[in-house]
Amino acid sequence: MGHPIRHSLSPRLHGAWIDHLGLDAAYVPLRVTEGGFERLVDGLKGGVFAGLNVTLPFKERALVLADEADEAARRAGAANLLVFSPDERIMAKNTDGLGLFYAFQQQTPHWRADQGPVVVLGAGGAARGAVAALMAGGAKDVRVLNRTLSRAEAIAADLGCSAFGWDQTERAFDGVATLVNATSGGLSGGDALPTPPPATCAGAVAMDMVYTPLKTAFLQSCEHLGYAPVDGLDMLIGQARPSFAAFYGVSPPEAVDSRAILLAALAGQV
Ligand code: ATR
Repeated sequence: MGHPIRHSLSPRLHGAWIDHLGLDAAYVPLRVTEGGFERLVDGLKGGVFAGLNVTLPFKERALVLADEADEAARRAGAANLLVFSPDERIMAKNTDGLGLFYAFQQQTPHWRADQGPVVVLGAGGAARGAVAALMAGGAKDVRVLNRTLSRAEAIAADLGCSAFGWDQTERAFDGVATLVNATSGGLSGGDALPTPPPATCAGAVAMDMVYTPLKTAFLQSCEHLGYAPVDGLDMLIGQARPSFAAFYGVSPPEAVDSRAILLAALAGQV
């Protein structure tokens, strides 16, 4: 469920998994008007639907309307998954952090959250979720670097990381071992930052949550500087997997090449 929703690739992914397992189920995109979110959820709970994945701009409101929330959703201040039980209760979860870790595991198996300082670029909802997940996953020195310092400071106050503005970029990047671009696609390259990330030591990793294009200019410039690149496509798969298990009670089939399905869908969108 989202607004807009047409671009969502999740129905392709869940649809392929459903087909492979032969489940009597359908995963459908729902576009809801900004004002209609709570009313539609109210109509679908109580066993009418198994649950919902929620995307922009409803992730924060999804957490608010739920009866219970897991720790990941509470820490992120947002939910991407609502699970409905027959007694009308709604459980909010956030699987985006699992998706982030899944992407690192798939593309840089050597990576560890605590391998050194982590710099998260951006301070919107996506960045907040990434910071919460990275800290919960063992990262000890997480730095939020944002054009607008006050938004980075708000995350730091809530989650206990540190905050830097763009006039402190060099200090934020000092010793960086993991770089995560969680800005809303605004950074067109390393050179769009006031100071590019430093050329770095072996083992350093750069991840971009944006996956259109798959190799963003940001990732390209980081790769050029020596970082191992991680694109955002596996994050989409990694957040969908636990959602699927929550809806249907079975894990997604390993035999399906999820990445190939998404790449084909993206090629078709061009
Ligand atoms: P979301 O909830 O999807 O993360 P958001 O709340 O709109 O989206 O946040 C977008 C983030 O991308 C912000 O950190 C924003 O920086 P500001 O807080 O300074 O606005 C960042 N961002 C977007 N476009 C940018 C650009 N061209 N340069 C730098 N940062 C940009």
